Amino acid sequence: MTDKVQELVSKCLQARDMAYCPYSRFPVGAAILTADGAIISGCNVENASYGLTVCAERTAIQRAVVEGHTQFTAIAVTCDIKDRFVGPCGACRQVLMEFGSDWTVYLTKPDGSYKKTSLNELLPLAFSPADLMKN
Ligand code: THU
Repeated sequence: MTDKVQELVSKCLQARDMAYCPYSRFPVGAAILTADGAIISGCNVENASYGLTVCAERTAIQRAVVEGHTQFTAIAVTCDIKDRFVGPCGACRQVLMEFGSDWTVYLTKPDGSYKKTSLNELLPLAFSPADLMKN
């Protein structure tokens, strides 16, 4: 594991510890690696009006954009499930796709082990900003 991947994985685990999830009690953490080497993390933030809950991945994206980042290379995502690798929800896959299809995705277990995949693999035949271009 490179130092940067190690850092990304450890930041997503730390972010999971900050999850605000009193309703589901299902904490999720995410950490995004920007093209210039910054790491921006996020956790899920739930709401008493359940549908207003924001996933960890989208919290991280919103934070990154506010901080001036729109070029990303990787994301690590984790939750409390120990016995298998869990992927981002469909809505989050689409939100990641907004910023390109060429992301590495590290599905991370609580012990820090991970499975490396890609956004292209997780969301094949995606609708993307390029599809809005008229000829
Ligand atoms: N959740 C995420 O944060 N990311 C996902 O990709 C899937 C689900 C959160 C939303 C909610 O707070 C909790 O996990 C249970 O669905």
